[in-house]
Amino acid sequence: MRSDVTLRRLDEQLLRQLLDAAVADADPLEVMPPVAGPPGWTPERRSAFLRFHRSRTLAVPPVETTYAIVVGTTVVGAARLCPVEDAKRAAEAGVWIGRSHRGAGVGGAVLKQLLTVACADGLESIFVSTTPDNTAVLRLLTTLGVDLVREDDAVTAWVNLDAVG
Ligand SMILES: CC(C)(COP(=O)(O)OP(=O)(O)OC[C@H]1O[C@@H](n2cnc3c(N)ncnc32)[C@H](O)[C@@H]1OP(=O)(O)O)[C@@H](O)C(=O)NCCC(=O)NCCS
Repeated sequence: MRSDVTLRRLDEQLLRQLLDAAVADADPLEVMPPVAGPPGWTPERRSAFLRFHRSRTLAVPPVETTYAIVVGTTVVGAARLCPVEDAKRAAEAGVWIGRSHRGAGVGGAVLKQLLTVACADGLESIFVSTTPDNTAVLRLLTTLGVDLVREDDAVTAWVNLDAVG
């Protein structure tokens, strides 16, 4: 397990670094809801990225929690925990890592730490939804030993934090 990966709660300074990481190393559709317009990191998408996090994670009270993923001293991605409506003590996890840092064990280290902070925050279960072709996420979930539910274009799983802790 990599020891140079840390999660830091997002603040305004980290948000700027997160935008830089996203623009340099990720596709907008991997890191934020779709925004109309030509492809790529247009000024509108950069603004929408900042607005998205300011209106959710940096809002008072926050709608969700976002952590900057830091490798060494470099921000390389984000991990989010968003409360699931109608489910007590449950949150949906979302993670993205810059392309140049993928496939090198960062995701595994992030998932482990995300489950630890979720547990510390009093959560009991984590929901994950992905696509059937997302081999890395499916591998991470399989390693946790959770049941995968396949429906149409989605694969979902509930991680019971008591069971994996
Ligand atoms: C999904 C994501 C977070 C995974 O992070 P990562 O750092 O690439 O993952 P890791 O390197 O820790 O790999 C996790 C496991 O998947 C395997 N894996 C990673 N990439 C793979 C690939 N392209 N093909 C096959 N296996 C792969 C690894 O070997 C590892 O398995 P192991 O523990 O048995 O060795 C990252 O790839 C990403 O940000 N992708 C784009 C956004 C995204 O899809 N987010 C998730 C939405 S639910």
